Amino acid sequence: MAPHHLITPWLLFSQTLLLAVQTIAKVPAVIVFGDSSVDSGNNNQISTILKSNFKPYGRDFLGGKPTGRFSNGRIPSDLISEAFGVKPTVPAYLDPMYNITDFATGVDFASAGTGYDNATSNVLSVIPLWEELEYYKAYQVKLRRYLGERKANEILSEALYLMSVGTNDFLENYYVFPAGRSSQFTVDQYQRFLAGIAGKFITQLYGLGGRKISLGGLPPMGCMPLERSRNMYGNGCVEEYNKVGRDFNVKLHNLAVKLNKELPGIKVVVSNPYDPLMEVIQHPSSFGFESVAVACCGTGIFEAGYLCDQFNPFTCSDANKYVFWDSFHPTEKTNRIISGHLMNTSLAVFL
Ligand SMILES: *[C@@H]1O[C@H](CO)[C@@H](O)[C@H](O)[C@H]1NC(C)=O
Ligand SMILES: *[C@@H]1O[C@H](CO)[C@@H](O)[C@H](O)[C@H]1NC(C)=O
Ligand SMILES: *[C@@H]1O[C@H](CO)[C@@H](O)[C@H](O)[C@H]1NC(C)=O
Repeated sequence: MAPHHLITPWLLFSQTLLLAVQTIAKVPAVIVFGDSSVDSGNNNQISTILKSNFKPYGRDFLGGKPTGRFSNGRIPSDLISEAFGVKPTVPAYLDPMYNITDFATGVDFASAGTGYDNATSNVLSVIPLWEELEYYKAYQVKLRRYLGERKANEILSEALYLMSVGTNDFLENYYVFPAGRSSQFTVDQYQRFLAGIAGKFITQLYGLGGRKISLGGLPPMGCMPLERSRNMYGNGCVEEYNKVGRDFNVKLHNLAVKLNKELPGIKVVVSNPYDPLMEVIQHPSSFGFESVAVACCGTGIFEAGYLCDQFNPFTCSDANKYVFWDSFHPTEKTNRIISGHLMNTSLAVFL
């Protein structure tokens, strides 16, 4: 009996300490900026052709509901929010179904088709990144009115900010319009231009109270089924685009180092999906995938958005066998693998 008497108070003490540490370290809200990789439905509310609020999108989502997420199920921002114990989905700011009561624990400002560059969001008339930040400012006003200054400021400074954007700057803009950005910038210059915008954005977010920031890296863009279909030498990955992704990720890493040095109290991490996604693409069967070059939806080669609809007879029956859901976006299963990897690496500091 004696040892128990000694051990119990210590156990109680250490459990209390652990609880206290967890309470302090906890992320109270997940706040999202970016493009279709993390848009949970903002594009449903604006005039653009880039939407996915119809079947078969969302067929493996809670209730089988198409929400405007570009996947068969949840997207990385949802899965990361869940992994932090916040909530299983992050609602879109423009969705009239939700209000500040919901947004107090997480809100999504992302817009499919957007980029760092204003010229990118212009292509499909979506929300430019600077305007996502304007919506965030309006959100702050609502949050303070709802919770009071003190509590709202606490949430805003302890929240995790997820940024995921940049792919469209290259694949929907730079490489598409010969008379546009590619006539003004070399690829390296354009990457610097974009990283400059990212730096300015994060500095503004810091000025508004944001501290815990995850800057999303680029995926191996050349391995998306749509890009493979443009490959003149078969349907392999387009190495040129993958290299752009890797080089840009190095610039984002350098940016994070610089911001962490310059801005007291900020913590910027780069959440890089490149390696875990490449691992899946190179070894699909070890993750239970059967198809990697071709997506689930439609022929799997070029469909996304309106071309991926419920009348397309070719859509696969089990998305879990596919790395990609449509020609440009991963399946929920792939999103889970990437998010799990990020939770174990870049995001672990915020747990
Ligand atoms: C938000 O909506 C819920 C129900 O949909 C309602 O009960 C609540 O009062 C609303 N909150 C605010 C602050 O308007
Ligand atoms: C993008 O547009 C906004 C609004 O017009 C402007 O404030 C911003 O400077 C522009 N960004 C760049 C990099 O040109
Ligand atoms: C993350 O770490 C946990 C615990 O070590 C492990 O079980 C899991 O497989 C890891 N997930 C990924 C995607 O690496």
